[in-house]
Amino acid sequence: MARKMLIAGNWKMNGLMADGVALATEIKTAVKSKKRTCEFLVCPPFTLLTSVKKALRGVKVALGAQDCHFNEKGAHTGDVSPLMLVDAGCSYVILGHSERRADHGESNELVCQKAEAANKAGLKTVICIGETLEQRDAGKTIDVCSKQVMGSVPEGATAQNTVIAYEPVWAIGTGKTPTAQDVEDVHAAVRKVLAKKLGKAQANKMRILYGGSVKPSNAKEFLSLPDVDGALIGGASLKSVDFMAIADNAGC
Ligand code: PGA
Repeated sequence: MARKMLIAGNWKMNGLMADGVALATEIKTAVKSKKRTCEFLVCPPFTLLTSVKKALRGVKVALGAQDCHFNEKGAHTGDVSPLMLVDAGCSYVILGHSERRADHGESNELVCQKAEAANKAGLKTVICIGETLEQRDAGKTIDVCSKQVMGSVPEGATAQNTVIAYEPVWAIGTGKTPTAQDVEDVHAAVRKVLAKKLGKAQANKMRILYGGSVKPSNAKEFLSLPDVDGALIGGASLKSVDFMAIADNAGC
């Protein structure tokens, strides 16, 4: 089953206008410099979306946001709707990142609601799942991830409009990573859960990314695993050289 590799940058709450435009411009040049076999995605903060979109004009790099509300519009101070993201040039949105689950108390139900609304507006979602260190130590990794998939992925999700990102919470921004075997085991288990929820055909086509301290030196190890279909990259996506080296080292 051919799944196109997705190399995604999650810029988190980083970058002022000049930084974002410079980073996007560097990525544009690097992506254009050779024939690419993977899909690229960058997810800047809301404030940079339109200028990054402009900077990426003429190159195949998708634009995504890092969250959205589940309503189309209305009295939700501080929130941004899926339609507004489409209007700003986004084709993707990251949902249920562990930092949002932890900082904003986002539940599986809420993530699912957001994902439904995002899909309805025409956005593709990157739905994040992953266990804490405590859960891992208690041997609950697969159980936790399975429940997150069951609860956060909408019934109507397809391989076309949904990407899953497995990000062990303890590996995010820490430089620590699971073993390649651990990652493959979780991804294979997640694919099984997806098959149960959405059917085998969708599950086999759906991309499952790995995220958590991905860097140029470990990219090949993770991205060559059979059930790993790309990476969601935080820290290393803020330097174009590292972000592009991850794609290069993964052979795409
Ligand atoms: P990291 O972040 O690459 O800095 O570990 C990944 C993420 O949180 O998406």
